Amino acid sequence: MGRRVLISGASGLVGQALAAALRARGDTVASLVRRAPRSPLEIPWDPRGGWLDPDHLRGFDAVVHLAGENVGAGRWTAARRAAIASSRIEGTRLLAASLCAACAEPPPFLAASATGFYGDRGEERLDEASRAGTGFLAETCVAWEAQADPLRARGGRVVHLRTSLVLAREGGALAKMLLPFRLGVGGRIGSGRQWWSWIALEDLVAIYLRSLDEPSWSGPINATAPAPVTNAHFTRALGSALRRPTIFPLPAFAARMMLGREMANELLLASARVEPRFLTEHGFAFRHPELGAALRAVLGAREVAPA
Ligand SMILES: NC(=O)c1ccc[n+]([C@@H]2O[C@H](COP(=O)([O-])OP(=O)(O)OC[C@H]3O[C@@H](n4cnc5c(N)ncnc54)[C@H](OP(=O)(O)O)[C@@H]3O)[C@@H](O)[C@H]2O)c1
Repeated sequence: MGRRVLISGASGLVGQALAAALRARGDTVASLVRRAPRSPLEIPWDPRGGWLDPDHLRGFDAVVHLAGENVGAGRWTAARRAAIASSRIEGTRLLAASLCAACAEPPPFLAASATGFYGDRGEERLDEASRAGTGFLAETCVAWEAQADPLRARGGRVVHLRTSLVLAREGGALAKMLLPFRLGVGGRIGSGRQWWSWIALEDLVAIYLRSLDEPSWSGPINATAPAPVTNAHFTRALGSALRRPTIFPLPAFAARMMLGREMANELLLASARVEPRFLTEHGFAFRHPELGAALRAVLGAREVAPA
């Protein structure tokens, strides 16, 4: 029988794809919305103002929490940094407290997190047992995950999907990279030796579905493909998928001038060689385990220029 799943941040890149996949298999999807609801399947909340009516949260079989200010949407001014952190920390605190108030036994809670948790770690191979890193994103992720503690204390099942760079045509970091690469002015960033972990959107959706379906899955799960690559490798693979040259490196100082020091350091120049140990040990089969094929699948034939 189909389940009733509540999603926050449902209008985003991951939320739209996940909601479609849930509906396709017969589940009912309701969403938390920050505007006036337009249907009975929309539940209002005001994460900024700290308002959510617990009465609206009863009767769900699972809650998927994706909401948060977009990390890559603009320069990290003090106001944007505050919004990135507080939308996640305060939003999760509010949702967890409201679920505890609404339900004696909270439903499974699947929460987005990010591989930014591990910070800038050079060549180190990182799995779920690795310690947290330092820096703005790492500290935000630690605090974001901790806000689900009240659900854990109630005996609730909580999963944190530490998500790497999501490859999708529709949006996210890859969509932003496409223009310079299509114009033939894409290239490695800084030394190109920093590790980038990535995941195809289709696999990420499958990981959310599996996390929902497996009652024994809980705790942090690295939602990332099994073959992280260096930025230089990523650059070559993207150029090759688009059949464009990648001969114009972007020096680190130029990246820092474009985005600001901290944003460039943490989003582009940081090295995180994250491996999906939990998923591998639990037999998850990636549809897109290798970057070149994943990029070709994600970008599709239309995107690829004739040879
Ligand atoms: N995409 C990636 O590469 C990636 C990588 C690592 C981690 N993640 C994490 O996975 C989650 C989903 O990612 P995504 O790519 O789908 O993100 P997204 O496209 O930016 O969507 C996030 C959604 O959160 C809600 N939101 C935006 N600003 C908010 C705010 N200030 N307060 C509360 N809610 C806000 C919006 O939904 P409503 O308007 O419907 O409320 C928005 O559509 C995010 O938490 C993200 O940090 C994503």
